[in-house]
Amino acid sequence: MSKKTLTIRDNRTGKELELPIKEGTIGPPAVDITSLYKEMGLFTLDPGFRSTASCESDITYIDGPEGILLYRGYPIEELAEHSTFLETSYLLMYGELPSMEQCKGFHKVVSQHTMVHEQLLQFFSGFRRDAHPMSTMVGVVGALSAFYHDSLDVHDPRHREISAIRMLAKIPTIAAATYKYAIGQAFMYPQNKLQYTENFLHMMFAVPCDDYEVSPVISKALDKILILHADHEQNASTSTVRLAGSSQANPFACISAGISSLWGPAHGGANEAVLVMLREIGSIDRIGEYIKKAKDKSDPFRLMGFGHRVYKNFDPRAKVMRKTAHEVLHELGAEDNELFKIAMELERIALEDEYFIKRKLYPNVDFYTGIILTAMNIPMNMFTVIFSVARTVGWISQWMEMISEEGQAIGRPRQLYRGHEKRVYVPMENR
Ligand code: SDX
Repeated sequence: MSKKTLTIRDNRTGKELELPIKEGTIGPPAVDITSLYKEMGLFTLDPGFRSTASCESDITYIDGPEGILLYRGYPIEELAEHSTFLETSYLLMYGELPSMEQCKGFHKVVSQHTMVHEQLLQFFSGFRRDAHPMSTMVGVVGALSAFYHDSLDVHDPRHREISAIRMLAKIPTIAAATYKYAIGQAFMYPQNKLQYTENFLHMMFAVPCDDYEVSPVISKALDKILILHADHEQNASTSTVRLAGSSQANPFACISAGISSLWGPAHGGANEAVLVMLREIGSIDRIGEYIKKAKDKSDPFRLMGFGHRVYKNFDPRAKVMRKTAHEVLHELGAEDNELFKIAMELERIALEDEYFIKRKLYPNVDFYTGIILTAMNIPMNMFTVIFSVARTVGWISQWMEMISEEGQAIGRPRQLYRGHEKRVYVPMENR
């Protein structure tokens, strides 16, 4: 068996370097290039990180060609079918499925932190009512660190855990308050007798003057959506959280940075962009026109909800999401939902089109989410907020793993400089 190394040779100088190849449990091994610059005076260049592993992690595994997603080894399809979001959150944070006792204890401790400091609610009044809810989320979540000075020592494991639990517990409360503020309704306080997702829906849709029964169908479907969106390896927003956290910034500021990155339409903002696209297409007979636009290199339009940096097969979450869309629309008696019909036909046509087949472009997690959330009466500008509620446990789990890593160092990439060489300042009168 050859040594697990990669030998590189700089043909300009003939110098060679043997680099260790590190193997994980499953998936592609990685060449450890830590010594490359010191030994060879060379950087690697990989904009978009298509060939770069930024860290070692035990949390989530994705196999792009096979369309596999595992949370701590458990297939996403099984968790979506049998687990709950809170149980999956425990799994992501602590690495194992909880026992009955552990699950009850976790629900209890999370429930004790669902309220936010009363003064935090005053931050909302600084925003316009028509501000995009993601802007409010970025601001209010970032402000959390102004209220919890008792647990911001990132080197203290207990502080890390209590901050993680606070973040997991408070993100639905803040998200629901973001929605209430946008529609001018009173904030609803958490009801700790409710399960996590039910509590969130109650805070979203209940009003102080009436009782509100959360629909079990909607609660179960949303719980599944939260499970599917909980973590996803080193995607853009998780990498943002890790990089922000590597400077030892407090976890609330790091999650706020993650929310900012998720907002982009190329990332978590795609679920909102899919619905805008489906509404713009408007009818099945206009699909061909949009497929043509998506293929036209001179047109910036892309098929929202299609394609993925890692999945070159069906996103396993999209399969579960499509099935959930059928179930929810059936339960709500909305199977003839026009947007759903357009989405299904768009998916069928695209998957038969050479352009998409050749580039292995398949529906991703965002393709169906918007249709389900719309059926639940969740407004489009709240879709990415829902994504951030789900992904917070992934972000915080990855942050805990990063900050507690042996030899954790600040992330500080280098560059290939293409600018001017040193030159002399030219006084204004001589320019
Ligand atoms: C999420 O990273 C994650 O894990 C993210 C996520 C998570 O859970 O965290 O899974 C969530 O962000 C899902 C992705 C949501 N975004 C969208 O649906 C937006 C639409 N998709 C594209 O923007 C794009 O597919 C990306 C951003 C998702 C991936 O982009 P890549 O990997 O940089 O792909 P690429 O640009 O290199 O595309 C390869 C080719 C190009 O054509 P050629 O230059 O080879 O001719 O495919 C084309 C692209 O033009 N292409 C598309 C397309 N996506 C890629 N063409 C039309 N429509 C599309 N959607």
